Amino acid sequence: MNPALSPVVTTPTAGSPDAEARIRELAQSLSLEQQVQLLTGADVWSTHAIPEIGMSRIVMSDGPAGVRGEDFDERHDSISLPSSSALSATWSVETARRYGQVLGQEARRKGVHAVLGPTINLHRSPLGGRHFECMSEDPRLTATIAAGYVEGVQSMGVGATPKHYIANEAETDRFTADSVVDERPLRELYLAAFEDAITEARSWLVMSSYNSINGTTASENKLLETPLSTEWGFDGVVVSDWTGVRSVEAANAHQDLEMPGPVGHWGPKLLAAINEGKVSREAILEKVTRILRLAARVGSLEGFTPAVTAPPAELNGAAVAREVATRGAVLVRNNGVLPLDATQLKSVAVIGHNADEARTQGGGSATVMPKHTVSPLEGLRKGLPDGVQVTYARGAKVAEGLQAFPRTAIHNPVSNVPGIRVTFLDTDGAVISGEDRLATHLIWFGIGIPEGAASIHMETDWTAPTAGIHHLGIGTVGQISFALNGEEVFNSELEDDTDVLGAALFDPPKTVHAIEAVAGEVVRIEAEYQLPKQQVIPFTAILLGEETVVEDPQAEIDAAVEAARAADVAVVVVGTNAAIESEGFDRKNLDLPGHQNELVAAIAAANPRTVVVVNSGSPVLMPWLDDVSAVLLGWFGGQEFGHAIADILLGNEEPGGRLPTTWPAALEDVPVLNTTPVDGKVVYSEGIHVGYRAWLKQQAEGGAAPALPFGFGLGYTTIELGKASAPQCVPAGKDVVVHVPVKNTGTRTGREVVQAYLARKDSSVERPVRWLAGYAGTHLAPSGTDSVEVRIPAKAFGHYDGGWQLEPGTFTLLVGRHSADTFQELEIEIR
Ligand code: BGC
Repeated sequence: MNPALSPVVTTPTAGSPDAEARIRELAQSLSLEQQVQLLTGADVWSTHAIPEIGMSRIVMSDGPAGVRGEDFDERHDSISLPSSSALSATWSVETARRYGQVLGQEARRKGVHAVLGPTINLHRSPLGGRHFECMSEDPRLTATIAAGYVEGVQSMGVGATPKHYIANEAETDRFTADSVVDERPLRELYLAAFEDAITEARSWLVMSSYNSINGTTASENKLLETPLSTEWGFDGVVVSDWTGVRSVEAANAHQDLEMPGPVGHWGPKLLAAINEGKVSREAILEKVTRILRLAARVGSLEGFTPAVTAPPAELNGAAVAREVATRGAVLVRNNGVLPLDATQLKSVAVIGHNADEARTQGGGSATVMPKHTVSPLEGLRKGLPDGVQVTYARGAKVAEGLQAFPRTAIHNPVSNVPGIRVTFLDTDGAVISGEDRLATHLIWFGIGIPEGAASIHMETDWTAPTAGIHHLGIGTVGQISFALNGEEVFNSELEDDTDVLGAALFDPPKTVHAIEAVAGEVVRIEAEYQLPKQQVIPFTAILLGEETVVEDPQAEIDAAVEAARAADVAVVVVGTNAAIESEGFDRKNLDLPGHQNELVAAIAAANPRTVVVVNSGSPVLMPWLDDVSAVLLGWFGGQEFGHAIADILLGNEEPGGRLPTTWPAALEDVPVLNTTPVDGKVVYSEGIHVGYRAWLKQQAEGGAAPALPFGFGLGYTTIELGKASAPQCVPAGKDVVVHVPVKNTGTRTGREVVQAYLARKDSSVERPVRWLAGYAGTHLAPSGTDSVEVRIPAKAFGHYDGGWQLEPGTFTLLVGRHSADTFQELEIEIR
């Protein structure tokens, strides 16, 4: 402890005035060198520690649908929750809180102090590559769910990091793209989505984005100051997106922490800039104060009581994952086939690549390594009574490229245990250390490779699951040798032609070799990777696996049709793959990959009881929508996905999710599509008309309607909305509470989400046709009734024009079940 400091007799609680004074004192006690050092990470995931003042490092980790921890190591597994589009489809803030709490728990278990999430950029275009990771196209739904998430994480004493601030709705040229957005949409849509997470849930961090906003890169942008730090009173740490600090000038903005480290644009360059008077010492002190405040909050600073000393009782993470997957699944069509009556079934044909190899999470930095995942096929097999015969046919290939070997198919011949042996060798080929790994997608990001290692040797015995030709391969960037049964089949350089950080990690260049094997035959696989001598960001990714190659797609469809014809009901799981939905790139179109549309059409023609489950993180086109019996949108449903799907199909659970984003019928119908910068700019020319607002405007002008409107979703019961009531006249600045009586008139339990939209006739300002102002859900037993209270914040009546403005007069309140419903209309006069 620095002897110059005043003695401390108590340990003030983070956030209290005493703590604030003491933190400032501590910040001032540091030398300028120490202060500057603290502003750039010590490594890929953590800040520097300053033992002199009792500060240990602050560890950050992705986020947002699980907490990976500091390594990408399957032995250190994580709970994998459904992706954000599934979470927001619950339209339940309470669920979002539990979701956040599980993340907070996971963080504590893994020694992580801040979770890099939630991702709350808007679903501006359905082509956006990180759509699955974002919440919704509507700022109100996003803001409320995000705030619940942040509250949940922080209730565990762990910081949440709303990201990416701001206008980061696309991935193409993501490091350089300039989002050109007018002030009004920026305020009413993109900033509004972040606002509650800061002003109500009081998040302890925010992540600035890679892109520029109106010509200035996010980490240097004045938007970090206003509204974030001024109007919204944010007192936490603005951390950069990884490598998002581009200059010393960013230190003059409200950018506090540069990640990753230890080398970046600050450090010695920043020290020089301060000494030259280009960056003020006050600005540095302010950043240091914020980082120390965060350290105090999360328990990384001695002498302070952390913000949370009594976290809520532990939740069962797997149970929450299952609950969110169930509550977020959206039933969009049902001609009565669902729920399936298992007592009347003799056979079920489960069809689809994703039925067996489901995508339970999206690709990129959000990836975590769960202990297990449950596919729909497994969920249905477990959920159906013993007497029901379940058949499986792939029908159409979905996964592209190499897929890691299933754990059950690999055996480590060195240690004689399941998995793969990984050995680190020095320049002379001598063994430094080795480890028994369980998975064949091996990623080291700044951690795990021992000092002095020059190469990595890998060895496993793979058992062929079926007879025939198998395509085995390896993907990485760099020099690699690859041998099958002792015969070297490749020894050369694999080059990355994309220049995208995530691509090299998750979709590396590969070499693939065909080998014929009988079912159960064992193939010895060996590979040796030469570690590059120098790396700016220390990451290495190696993927060993099999690629699905289909010679005759029609034969696959025919086999699935046979299976469907022979069964009482066909469940077809369709979906996307990692080459389509991931961080790092945008989608080119909204089509299901491969021959899946032909597959569904053929199955529907063969079996009148065809149920389709869609396994995607964002909208896909469903040309067969009206030709099948039922459609359930399951999103990327997390580790318990298959159980959730089975529970809903078999009627153990009620579907109650609602669309957080509009689903189009055709790509050319979509009113806002552009994600590709033109001359470096993505122009948000649609202004305030995004998502359903854009669709409604388009329809008012005679244009196309979507396939499925925002807010839509069915249940297994019927719920009636009674006559809504709200005050007719409300003083400006006051919230409005609407009461809506609801009754379950059906025979099953069910959930309704009452949605309230606002509209303004004859307005003197441009307005959306209508906009979501509030919502509330209720769960009702058969014949059950409730009076649902929907709170409409005063701000919902405002518009932004140089400041928040209110146009006095009469607004129309529209109460219904989705954005295109036949509404009850009430008038509210704001005075
Ligand atoms: C992503 C962030 C992520 C960070 C650290 C970036 O490329 O955009 O969302 O938190 O990497 O993995």
